[in-house]
Amino acid sequence: MTDLDSVDYFTDPALVPNPHPYFDHMRAKCPVSKEATFGVYAVTGYEEATEVLKNSDVFSSAIAVGGPFPPLPFAIEGDDITGLIEEHRSELPMYEHMVTMDPPQHTYARSVLNRLLTPARLKENEDFMWRLADRQIEEFLEAGKCEFLASYAKPFSLLVVADMLGVPEEDHEQFRIVLGAERPGSRVGALDNEIVASNPLEWLDEKFVAYISDRRENPRDDVLTSLALAKYPDGTTPEVIDVVRSATFLFAAGQETTAKLLGWSLKVLGEHPEVQQRLRANRSLIPQFIEETLRFESPVKSGFRLAKTATTIGDIDIPVGATVMVCPGAANRDPRRFENPHEFQLDRPNFREHMAFGRGVHSCPGGPLARVEGRVSIERILDRMLDIEIDAEKHGPEGDRNYNFEPTFILRGLTDLNITFTPNS
Ligand code: HEM
Repeated sequence: MTDLDSVDYFTDPALVPNPHPYFDHMRAKCPVSKEATFGVYAVTGYEEATEVLKNSDVFSSAIAVGGPFPPLPFAIEGDDITGLIEEHRSELPMYEHMVTMDPPQHTYARSVLNRLLTPARLKENEDFMWRLADRQIEEFLEAGKCEFLASYAKPFSLLVVADMLGVPEEDHEQFRIVLGAERPGSRVGALDNEIVASNPLEWLDEKFVAYISDRRENPRDDVLTSLALAKYPDGTTPEVIDVVRSATFLFAAGQETTAKLLGWSLKVLGEHPEVQQRLRANRSLIPQFIEETLRFESPVKSGFRLAKTATTIGDIDIPVGATVMVCPGAANRDPRRFENPHEFQLDRPNFREHMAFGRGVHSCPGGPLARVEGRVSIERILDRMLDIEIDAEKHGPEGDRNYNFEPTFILRGLTDLNITFTPNS
């Protein structure tokens, strides 16, 4: 039995399959409680999490992705550490990406995305998604079963980001190989082997430096050109590498998270035949099915902030330099906000209020895209795959399932999801 008062949230594998007893325990003590191992303030309450995320004046995102790892590269001194954060920023993980930036730099980095994530572009991207969904399903349809994450969720979410960024379709297969979403059983050729051996993030950076530089010299009527010509709000032109980072970060932020959402959606369909039946009978319920899945199994479990000054969250005192862990996965199951939070309820009246995409200046710019990915996928999956069930040979019988989860304290997702279905050609 895990002692929830002393357990190490960050490394104890016991919390990975189901972190909710821990989140509930912490919230019951106080929605802002200091955890045992690193003295991190865990924010498990809905109102309290909103308060932190909306206050980027006091809460810096400099440690957004690593939290207490690695430890801060400076000692906390004085009553305002804004200057220390700026001095040491480049020693912190992912400092070059917008998710760890604070305003005003953050505002600049994010403005580049405004050229990209527009309603018109999203519409074009949706047209691609319908084609892609069918193409992916064709790869495994006849077999009547698949491992859904490798066969559908990962390649689908990867190629949607590639298309959003305007990566030419002839390069898609290469992206699939390098970013680990190749066709199951496919043979990687000699050239591809070379690519796979290299660092995928470096490969991505190089690929996008080439695209953006080319489009600056030879503008065309395409998305990469629009990205290449994007200006900062003050009218200046960003360096190529800064545009590239805004673009390539979308793969890091948008692929795994959406793949997890799709995996959870299929698990709910397999575990709740009554929900599957209702969706089959009434497709207009799909958007709220996606929202309730985001609330119920939030792909982002936790994210971090650093208190620049002493402050309070609710009425809890937070010292200067404190590491604060905001847990969307826990906030989305706060019983003060969501009645019977541990139940999946398709008709939940306030399903839109979840905070799976965060809040405040860093709230997810890919939310609208992820929602469309979910809607298009579920629509086509219901059309082409009848009687979807969890594969009992792989996960055990109903009531006694075994699932494997990714061992991370930041994201929540299945490593694999085996399903069976009747093909509908
Ligand atoms: C179900 C899928 C997704 C979930 C649950 C999700 C969740 C989140 C959350 C919680 C944040 C806030 C991080 C923070 O406050 O520190 C975030 C930021 C971000 N997300 Fe998503 N995301 C998803 C899909 C996507 C997609 C599809 C894209 C783009 C293609 C994307 C791009 C980003 C970017 C660029 C940021 C950083 C924004 C900033 O720092 O201003 N995400 N996401």
